[in-house]
Amino acid sequence: MHAVAIVAAAGSGSRLGADLPKALVPLAGRPLVAWAVEGLLAGGVAEVLVTVPQDQRAAFAAVLPPEVRLVGGGVTRTASVRAGLAALPADADADVVLVHDAARPLTPPDVVARVLAALAGGAAAVVPVLPVVDTTVLVDDAGRVADAPPRERLRRVQTPQGFDRSVLADAYAALAEDAEFTDDAAVVRAAGVPVATVAGDERAAKITVAHDLAVAEGQVAR
Ligand code: C5P
Repeated sequence: MHAVAIVAAAGSGSRLGADLPKALVPLAGRPLVAWAVEGLLAGGVAEVLVTVPQDQRAAFAAVLPPEVRLVGGGVTRTASVRAGLAALPADADADVVLVHDAARPLTPPDVVARVLAALAGGAAAVVPVLPVVDTTVLVDDAGRVADAPPRERLRRVQTPQGFDRSVLADAYAALAEDAEFTDDAAVVRAAGVPVATVAGDERAAKITVAHDLAVAEGQVAR
């Protein structure tokens, strides 16, 4: 099995209050994207491709190992991953693809390894998940609680998400040009592919707002 990872890193840092792309925001002095790439390689991924804001290639190249390929991203995460998929070499012997968020810098290599093991075991698509500890509700347009799904069946979905390469490529090829999904498992599910789960890890939390970055700083200092 030869695994290639696409790291989605073309987002802005607006919700973090940053004036540079979120993936370049430092965590203990190193950009989030550098942490994320290191974790993937340590977990068993052979090659990494990073989708970056079109005008920021040089800034990303300066902080990543030279063998990491950079590809211009799109307006949405879905468009960025699509650009990453298009940039995979056509004849690569890469048979599995992991898609990861640069915004999950401290994802332990064990999570990567669990995703790869599920693929090696025959899963066509796999996501790391965690239980939901809060009661979680659906609201209507007025903000009133409309439903409360049983918590035991709910999971929080993390990345990296792993896929048989052709399954992921075919699912993206079948999408409308302007389709937008928040993760890649949703894309393959839309194509009717079952998605397996493995255990995620709280340390793979996504950095979205300043508080998340402060938590991650504490994690590194521990
Ligand atoms: O915005 P959010 O935190 O959900 O983004 C998840 C990941 O997708 C981030 O790592 C971000 O850099 C990436 N992204 C992207 N292209 C976009 C928007 C987000 O690669 N247009």
